[in-house]
Formats: sequence, structure tokens, C-alpha cells
Amino acid sequence: MERSGSKEEVRQAVGAARREGKRIALVPTMGALHEGHLSLVRAARDRADYVVVSVFVNPTQFAPEEDFEAYPRDLDGDLTLLAAEGVDFVFAPSAETMYAPDAAVTVDPGPLGAIWEGASRPTHFRGVCTVVAKLFAITSPALGFFGEKDYQQLQVIRRMARDLDLPVRVVGCPIVRHADGLAMSSRNAYLTAEERAAAPVLYHALRTAETLALGGESDARALAGAMAETIEAEPLARIDYAAVVHAETLEPLDALEAGPARAIVAARVGATRLIDNMALVGCDGDGAKAGDA
Ligand code: PAJ
Repeated sequence: MERSGSKEEVRQAVGAARREGKRIALVPTMGALHEGHLSLVRAARDRADYVVVSVFVNPTQFAPEEDFEAYPRDLDGDLTLLAAEGVDFVFAPSAETMYAPDAAVTVDPGPLGAIWEGASRPTHFRGVCTVVAKLFAITSPALGFFGEKDYQQLQVIRRMARDLDLPVRVVGCPIVRHADGLAMSSRNAYLTAEERAAAPVLYHALRTAETLALGGESDARALAGAMAETIEAEPLARIDYAAVVHAETLEPLDALEAGPARAIVAARVGATRLIDNMALVGCDGDGAKAGDA
């Protein structure tokens, strides 16, 4: 496995692989890697011949009051895990390498970046789009791998690739969870033992909506209400939003039939902000999932 913090070195390595006819995949990460990240690496390994993983805690996607300084960092541990996965190149640049001191041009994510997570974190998706566009430009991958864990981020990046005609196929990968349902996240490390025990409430809320939907409830407001109630019943959790939205536009839906539908939730557990989501499938009235033969 090669490893470098230099844009030129990764460009050269990727260029050589491309000249050998290899299909290039990029898995962008901020490090502190867990099984969720590694599932993306394995999906990339399956679909491509040369896998680049970037490890970069991107300062521009954190607001000044957010956790950029505290964000977990473990490059040595990450390199060990990535070598074991058969990754070809780890690109781990410094902030100074990534951004010129007077860098001023950014990618505007548009309205999709202003709702939900964007409402709580107004500059977040601009930072994400800008760094991902730069990583695409540096590594020119045929495929870019992103987790459904950050569902809005995945949709925003798909739109960016489409709207800017970026020659990359954006591949979404399923959420990897702990045994109790909590979605894996580097930020779970912030939770106290008590908070960690309460944190699966987001997953429980999503499962409540899923069960109701399969039982025939198709009113999106009723489903969102049931998710909110579940979260509000947990004393350590403070809800930010719980909604049923169109899976691509992320606009709120009135009814599941207007979907494809996605249930999305965000809440603070203690001081830590957690997000989660799940696809919702309606029911045809006979107890069968819509779409079943
Ligand atoms: P990070 O939070 O490190 O996540 C990197 C990738 O791993 C993202 O695509 C994320 O959705 C995916 N991921 C995280 N937890 C997951 C889980 N439990 N199951 C499946 N996939 C999971 O997201 C970012 O970094 C940054 O915003 C980045 C895209 C790298 C830009 O800086």
C-alpha cells in the first residue's frame, strides 16, 4: 500500500494505474475508521481495480463552534486497517496542502444543502462539496463511494456530480450498525456509557416508522410523529428533526405512495449530535410490501 500527503504523488500513482487500464475508485473519509468505512472500502475493492482512500479531517465543513479540534484522529490505526483491506493508496494530506491560504472558490450545494442538516449546519455542505470536488479532481476516480449513513450528504454529492457533469459514478452503500442498532459513527466515541445506552433510540424511532408503514400507515405526518414521540420519550435525547421525505429531493412527503420515501432523524444525545435514516416501504393493504410480486 502506498501512502502520501502529496497531491502530485497521488495524481502520479493514479495516472499510472489508469494507463494500465485499471478502474479507479475513491473512498473519501475523515479517518478514525470503523466497520462502516471499511464496508465502503470493500465495496470499492469489489467494483474497481485500484482503490484510493482519502483520510482528511476537512476544516471547511466544521462551523467554528463545532468539534473540528476534538474530532478523533488515529492515522496509524487507520493505515493498519486499510493495508489489511488491500487498499492501493492512502491520500492523507494536511490542511495546508489541500487549501491555498487565499483559497476562495467553493461549491454551492444549492437548496438540497440548505434543508435538514443544512438548517442546523448552514456552511456544512458547502465545505463537503468543495472538498469532495477537490478530491475528485485530484484522484479522477471512475467511482466514488459514500455511505447512506450520511444520507443527505450522499444525495448532495450525487446532485453535485450531475449538475457539474463530473465524470464519476457516485455509489451509495448501506448503513453498518452495532448489534443494538446504533449506526456506526466516529462521533459515537464522544458518548458517555449512559448516553451510549440511550443512543439506539434513533434506530428505534426509525424501526417504529418502518413497522407502522408495513402495517398500512401511509400518512407521513403520522409516521414522523411516531418517530418524534419515540425520541422524546428518551430523557437523554433532544430531537432536532424527524421526517419522512422523498428519497432524492428530500422534500417532506404527505404520503408514502408519493415516494420513494426515506425516514430521517437527528437528535442530540447528551452533547453529541447523531443522525440516522431508513428507507420506508409502504404496504398494499394485504400485508405485502409495495413492489412485492
Ligand atoms: P466520514 O464521516 O469519515 O465518513 C466517510 C464515509 O463513510 C461517508 O461516505 C459516510 O457516509 C460513510 N460512513 C460513515 N459511517 C458509516 C456507517 N455506519 N455505515 C456506512 N457508511 C458509513 O462523511 C465524511 O467523512 C466527510 O463528510 C467526507 C465525505 C469525507 C468529506 O470530508
